[in-house]
Amino acid sequence: LAKVELEMASIPEGKNAIIKWRGKPVFVRHRTSDEIEEANSVDIKSLRDPETDEARTQNPEWLVMLGVCTHLGCVPIGESGDFGGWFCPCHGSHYDISGRIRKGPAPLNLEVPPYSIEEGEGKIIV
Ligand code: FES
Repeated sequence: LAKVELEMASIPEGKNAIIKWRGKPVFVRHRTSDEIEEANSVDIKSLRDPETDEARTQNPEWLVMLGVCTHLGCVPIGESGDFGGWFCPCHGSHYDISGRIRKGPAPLNLEVPPYSIEEGEGKIIV
């Protein structure tokens, strides 16, 4: 199966990258310590699709997920929405800095694909 690699050094802290994997966009965010703290401060019980940030990341500095809205499949926009994460303009779904659904019609969090982080090589492989 086709794999794609991303050089971690190419994404500064606080920035997003979008790569293509099997015809779908994959969002990669190099999160700041404030963002990681915010992702962990959420009351999990209040979430529509309850998942801890820890369960969604391998290294909390790096968030990797499919850029496909779980409502009807549009591509959400980064650094927007009411929860500091992504916003889907099609019908107004707001995702937080962990990609979890917080408001709007989408039923589920943005999906985390299988991936690996090769720290030694400085690469994320999806
Ligand atoms: Fe994203 Fe409907 S497809 S809100």
